[in-house]
Amino acid sequence: MPDAIAYDLQGDIAILKAQNPPVNALGHAVRQGLIDGIERAEREGARAVVIHGDGSTYFAGADIREFGKPPQEPHLPDVCNRIEASPLIVVSAMHGTALGGGLEIALSTHYRIAVPSARMGLPEVHLGLIPGATGTQRLPRLIGVDKALDVMTTGRQVGAQEALDLGLIDRIEDGAPGVNGLAYARQLIDEGAPRRAVSELPAPAPIDWDATYEAVLKRGRGQISPAMCVRAVQGACELPFAEGVANERRIFRELMDTDQRQGMIHAFFAERAVGKLPELKGVEPRPVAAIAVIGGGTMGSGIATSALMAGLSVTMLEMSPEAAEKAKGRIAGNLSGALKRGKIDQAGFERLTEQALTLTTSYDDLAEADLIIEAVFEEMSVKKEVFAKLDAVAKPGAVLASNTSYLDVDEIAAATSRPGDVLGLHFFSPAHVMKLLEIVVADKTAPDVLATGFALGKKMGKVSVRAGVCDGFIGNRILSHYRTAADHMILDGASPYQIDAALESFGFAMGPFAVADLAGLDIGWAVRKRKRAEGLHPQARDSSYADTLCEAGHFGQKTGKGYYDYVAGPKARVPNPEVMPLIEADRAAQGITPRDFTDAEILRRYMAAMVNEAARVVGEGIARRPLDVDVTLLYGYGFPRYRGGPLKWADMEGLPGLLDDIRAWAAEDAHFWQPAPLLEQLVAEGRSFEDLNKEAAG
Ligand code: 3HC
Ligand code: NAI
Repeated sequence: MPDAIAYDLQGDIAILKAQNPPVNALGHAVRQGLIDGIERAEREGARAVVIHGDGSTYFAGADIREFGKPPQEPHLPDVCNRIEASPLIVVSAMHGTALGGGLEIALSTHYRIAVPSARMGLPEVHLGLIPGATGTQRLPRLIGVDKALDVMTTGRQVGAQEALDLGLIDRIEDGAPGVNGLAYARQLIDEGAPRRAVSELPAPAPIDWDATYEAVLKRGRGQISPAMCVRAVQGACELPFAEGVANERRIFRELMDTDQRQGMIHAFFAERAVGKLPELKGVEPRPVAAIAVIGGGTMGSGIATSALMAGLSVTMLEMSPEAAEKAKGRIAGNLSGALKRGKIDQAGFERLTEQALTLTTSYDDLAEADLIIEAVFEEMSVKKEVFAKLDAVAKPGAVLASNTSYLDVDEIAAATSRPGDVLGLHFFSPAHVMKLLEIVVADKTAPDVLATGFALGKKMGKVSVRAGVCDGFIGNRILSHYRTAADHMILDGASPYQIDAALESFGFAMGPFAVADLAGLDIGWAVRKRKRAEGLHPQARDSSYADTLCEAGHFGQKTGKGYYDYVAGPKARVPNPEVMPLIEADRAAQGITPRDFTDAEILRRYMAAMVNEAARVVGEGIARRPLDVDVTLLYGYGFPRYRGGPLKWADMEGLPGLLDDIRAWAAEDAHFWQPAPLLEQLVAEGRSFEDLNKEAAG
């Protein structure tokens, strides 16, 4: 194995090249290698040192895999301080991403040069941490408190040009970073440039710390680490450098011990693990350049937008030329949003809407498509008719996908003579924005068709999760269950507004009733009608207030009223006064005497229902691993990322206590609160969902 840091003395300039693929994370060997390299350069009489990364990037940060293990010396802040203290001129030559500890190393060097494509940032907040290797002390000294706080509290990546404008780097130069760094160091030596230590810059000007802390805390919806960046930066203003570093270290260590840190790091690795499936190993996806979308309503037009943005050509099939034009209008509306945000330019907008998009009403025009996604009405008979037609016209090897939310993909596949080519591609609304894609594997789906689904998801920038066939797959199946728990609590005495508030204060972006209003109450209504037609379990509780609301034409935001009234706009929701009387009538009709619920009980029941159904979904193999459920809920259902996902939350909360509660509630409703066999098994064996994730990883 090569040294983590390669040393090369070229004349009077030492080059330290990091060689720790894939991202040059600052693990123990790299940290030690940097110290050794600086010392050797000083010993061997070098006048300058250039630090750069081999492969695709400069350092992408501390080695996250070391977190939670006993820290090993040299610690990263000491490495940073040792680099800065060197009497030699130290230059960072950056490419790829200089993130977290990587940027902190760069801030400790005396000069910084980057290639135009380089990106840098302090993304520690996304891991539940603050920058912990002097970043909170050096960055505000270099670029001022406001800009430093913006970079740290958002964790956003800054491009090279912005970094230059901010004064974060000194120069942009195209070419090989090692070569650029060497030339820059040569020039600095020749010019007699001074050694510049950021820590020696004057302390930055203070701001209103308490007000800023509160504002950042509020923005984080319960996430603590961004707000703690404010406290660490306050230290940079109020304390001598070394004490500020010690203060930063203390906060960093405290955050390292939190559930939020565990949750966010779980989310980081889980979202990278979802695509790692044994059945995909060595399987080549089928090539996809041209796709077709059937049905250009809400979902079809969002899917088409996402595909166009990913560089695919799209044929949109609708029922009539008028409907096709409407779909085009929706797609153009979506793309004009991308134009406004600078994601495409005017020429790109015109190319996508006029050349890359073709409208049709004829199935014959789908003969060339590599992959076809159906997004028509949620009706099995309509879906089957569409798939039979696709079977007749699609070229051999074309992948045939359904965007169905709940329906049986096996039954849909059986409407064709090529079920191996069929799978579910379940996008989330709005499909050009939401990152989640459930890839639904039917009985006969061929492995390379599944691989094609994952490849398409990647191309579209989605986080793709494999799901098995059942009513609602992973996400909607679990949603149905915890929504039912919420409906039961309403019948028993809670209000939709109390439930939404309790869950929003847990960290959900929106409570379930606000979400229902956004999605359209007609969707749930259709599902309830279908389920009642199929026959409810005799012990299942039912309610009618939501149906009465729909019968009155209140479908949520799109009609201006649902659980809430949106008369003052979608954000300014107020409870709809018609709702509580409907609920009270429902309770009276069922002979229920309402009782009070605390927010804590609401949360506990809602989460227990979610975890219990999720355990069934994993136990039945609908989700391969607990982490697949976590990623689904994080990316498709507004679950707070800093809690890691429902099953990570359950592990941290304690599975035995959750099971005890479920068993206790079964006394009042044995049908709804049946403990999931997998949950019972894990508790009996003293194991966790994380153990299952680890077993699956091998
Ligand atoms: N430590 C350990 N492993 C890391 C890592 C890190 N900091 N960053 C990435 N990796 C691993 C990934 O887990 C993945 O492993 P796998 O192949 O086994 O799944 C591999 O590197 C490649 O990562 P990606 O798939 O994410 O590759 P991309 O090219 O899409 O993205 C990246 C590269 C932008 C660097 C992205 O990986 C990333 O954002 N990484 C995290 C960066 C970060 O958060 N840095 C701060 C760390 S905390 C810190 O520095 C604390 C300090 O202040 C003390
Ligand atoms: P929608 O009603 O907005 O759009 C359906 C479109 O399909 C309409 O434009 C209609 O003209 C067209 N259509 C119907 N039958 C057709 C046919 N035989 N041939 C060609 N076009 C036809 O519905 P929406 O919301 O876009 O849903 C579509 C599918 O996506 C459904 O299966 C739904 O369950 C699923 N879905 C919906 C989500 C949502 O939030 N709306 C989320 C994820 C999936």
